[in-house]
Amino acid sequence: MVLKRFSFTPFQIGLHAFSLLPFSIFVFNFLTDAGFSGNIQRLEFRTGRLALIWLILSLFCSPVYWLTGYREAFKARKTLGRYAFFYAFLHGMVFLVLDYAFDIHLILITLGDTLYLLLGIIAFIILLLLAVTSNPQSQAILKKNWGRLHKLVYLAAILGVIHYFLIEKSDTRWPLTAAIILSGLLVVRFPAIHKRITLRKQANKVVIKTRSGKAS
Ligand code: HEM
Repeated sequence: MVLKRFSFTPFQIGLHAFSLLPFSIFVFNFLTDAGFSGNIQRLEFRTGRLALIWLILSLFCSPVYWLTGYREAFKARKTLGRYAFFYAFLHGMVFLVLDYAFDIHLILITLGDTLYLLLGIIAFIILLLLAVTSNPQSQAILKKNWGRLHKLVYLAAILGVIHYFLIEKSDTRWPLTAAIILSGLLVVRFPAIHKRITLRKQANKVVIKTRSGKAS
């Protein structure tokens, strides 16, 4: 039973290794001080970008599953979402501990002046809520509301992108790229478009089956 709980498919092992790679690089750089040298802002930027990238990657899982039928891709969304939360947590800690040295008064003053911070904090709270309820027990307790609650992931991603836009006012190339990718991922979730994708997938399956039937 315990062994079953900790058994991973090669895909899952690859997914964890891939997701932990940036973190391992942070730890390595921190221990060796390679290119780090107390550069708090760089660390803040990198963890923020990683949180957003993993959040967007988690939103790719369902469309990949609809198109390919690959179940592992569908299951990967939770793992990627948890890593998004992990990097957002590191990002928040860098801000709270290294940047503001737990100075809550200063944080509150900054919060009143900057919208980007407020949006980042709201996105973080949503990710926290999703991470703590991302388990079978919560799913059983919340029943239908679990699905509704987890739709908030879209709001977290939108807020994350706006947070990014407000920070990178002078060079908006990357926030814009994130916004375009996110818009695409949201559009394919509209019921009408989702239905078309799955219907086309089923039609392709039927064609392949009939062709292979004729061939044999
Ligand atoms: C606890 C909540 C959060 C706080 C306090 C926070 C704070 C910050 C700060 C202070 C910066 C650097 C701003 C600057 O120096 O100009 C930043 C950048 C950034 N944050 Fe956050 N943030 C939070 C949550 C998030 C979340 C949830 C995401 C993603 C989903 C995110 C993504 C980013 C990105 C992409 C950047 C910019 C990186 C770059 O310019 O390369 N943040 N954040």
